[in-house]
Amino acid sequence: MRSWVLITGCSTGIGRALVGLCRRGGWSVVATARSKEALADLVPGEDLRILALDVTDAASIAKAAAACADLPLKALVNNAGYGQVGPLELIRAEEMRAQFETNVIGLQMVTNAFLPLLRRQPGARILQVASMLGRLSIPLAGPYNASKHAVVALAESLRLEVGREVFVVLVEPGAIRSAFRETLAKVWGDLPQRAQGTPYAGAVARHLALRREQAERHALSAEICAQKLLAVLDAPRPPRRLVIGRDAFWAIKLKALLPAALWERVLRRAYGLDC
Ligand SMILES: NC(=O)c1ccc[n+]([C@@H]2O[C@H](COP(=O)([O-])OP(=O)(O)OC[C@H]3O[C@@H](n4cnc5c(N)ncnc54)[C@H](OP(=O)(O)O)[C@@H]3O)[C@@H](O)[C@H]2O)c1
Repeated sequence: MRSWVLITGCSTGIGRALVGLCRRGGWSVVATARSKEALADLVPGEDLRILALDVTDAASIAKAAAACADLPLKALVNNAGYGQVGPLELIRAEEMRAQFETNVIGLQMVTNAFLPLLRRQPGARILQVASMLGRLSIPLAGPYNASKHAVVALAESLRLEVGREVFVVLVEPGAIRSAFRETLAKVWGDLPQRAQGTPYAGAVARHLALRREQAERHALSAEICAQKLLAVLDAPRPPRRLVIGRDAFWAIKLKALLPAALWERVLRRAYGLDC
């Protein structure tokens, strides 16, 4: 019998790539997205169930969990998330709250809703998609950094609490090519205007372009990232952490090795904040 995996945020990017790979790799998939229409192009089959799931909506989470009660659910991939960027001094409270509602509280509430189902399957696993920015912080992305640091903390606590029954894996990718940066640009909103006349004006102006260019140059494809997630889904004993990409590997290493003052100087310079 095929095992089932539920994936959040399957409309684009890593989540979408993982749906196809899992199905080809022998898994049955509950593909979820905020809007079911975003999944309408998936090829139907007995190995696919499509559900609407907005991770910030308690009723939507409860409905999705109820709709999976009959399934041998062996894995949950908490992938849904987005990046709220901007200098912390200019960030509005509602932007910060929205970032945490999706990336942190939503992720944990989905986890809680599906834990009873997962517990029924020996070897069940939860993959919490954090980021290398859950291990280090860059400037102009404070809310996102903080949300991913929180995901790391939650996963570590959860592993201590349920790790004997369910494997908890932290996924820590570097830059991945997906819709992430377009969403980032939308979420950016009126920040350039807010930044005018502040010490951040120059850095904000070049930030998006820089991030986009870096992502184009160094990012892994969502497909490669999803392959690594599939390997963890298949592993008899999954690792506690999965760092994806050389950028993530080296950034985490360098932060640990370099003196703090030098590390900060490098980052300030890279983000145009050294003047
Ligand atoms: N791309 C990177 O460089 C990178 C690096 C490290 C970590 N990550 C993490 O990887 C995960 C996937 O990102 P991605 O790169 O694949 O970006 P993506 O293409 O933008 O995909 C993000 C997915 O999350 C969904 N989502 C956002 N808010 C949601 C909500 N409230 N409820 C349900 N789904 C929601 C989006 O759905 P909608 O279409 O409805 O908005 C979309 O399907 C995220 O957690 C991200 O933080 C990405």
